[in-house]
Amino acid sequence: MAATTADRGSTVRPIKPRSNRPGPFLVDLYRSSVGKKYVMALTGLAILGFVFFHMLGNLKMYLGAEDFNHYGEWLRELLVPFVPRTVALWLLRVGLIGAVGLHVLSAYQLTVINRKARATKYQGRRDYLAANYASRTMRWSGVIVGLFLVWHLFDLTFTGTGYHYVRGLPYENVALSLGRAWNAVIYIVANLALGFHLFHGTWSLFQSMGWNNPRFNAWRRGFAAAFTALVVIGNLSFPIAVLTGVVST
Ligand code: HEM
Repeated sequence: MAATTADRGSTVRPIKPRSNRPGPFLVDLYRSSVGKKYVMALTGLAILGFVFFHMLGNLKMYLGAEDFNHYGEWLRELLVPFVPRTVALWLLRVGLIGAVGLHVLSAYQLTVINRKARATKYQGRRDYLAANYASRTMRWSGVIVGLFLVWHLFDLTFTGTGYHYVRGLPYENVALSLGRAWNAVIYIVANLALGFHLFHGTWSLFQSMGWNNPRFNAWRRGFAAAFTALVVIGNLSFPIAVLTGVVST
């Protein structure tokens, strides 16, 4: 074996050949790019479900404090007495944390793989521009939504941000938080970024799963646009409702 100058005088350890033995099916699948895309698509689907039902649940704030706070309590009471209080909610939370973690991990790993593969250029300049625009949009919108999520948890779940937070009174917390102009701006900007992410994510989810028959492309685009519009309009309505006094403590 040829040793480099840097190796001279030190013991050269032989490089262990990577085992070609197959691992568990799901682990092997995840190692491939296609497997990572499946993971992104399936975890994305779970997150879409959460985002949709979260918006739907938040619409209850238009029914008033009692209904909204009761809804928050109902989430903690899910499946009681079959399981103790908050257990079902915690299971959902753990599933959601897992889905978000895997979604971010596979996105990161696919970005690294794509960067390395970029040595082989796209056939056409238009394909290159389209793919590049989409992946750049997904990256910045994903980062904004991720940062927002951490801040949002501090704002309405842990401590409150700049107002007097009271655990167990989500209606009052939402009204006080969104009544602060800068908080409302953060909600509006983050939900616009979420809109970009959801639109492209919903569209490419079908692609990653192989559900991309050209006959369904118009339907796919329509679904992605309608779903995104519903979530974003619903979510933007909350800061606007608080700022205009429709929702207040
Ligand atoms: C204007 C839009 C939104 C409003 C008014 C809102 C409101 C709330 C409220 C009131 C809670 C606390 C619920 C409770 O403790 O009972 C909460 C929790 C949460 N929100 Fe939002 N949210 C909004 C947008 C979003 C978005 C866009 C995401 C994700 C991208 C999100 C993710 C979460 C998560 C993960 C939790 C924690 C759930 C839990 O642990 O129970 N929210 N939100």
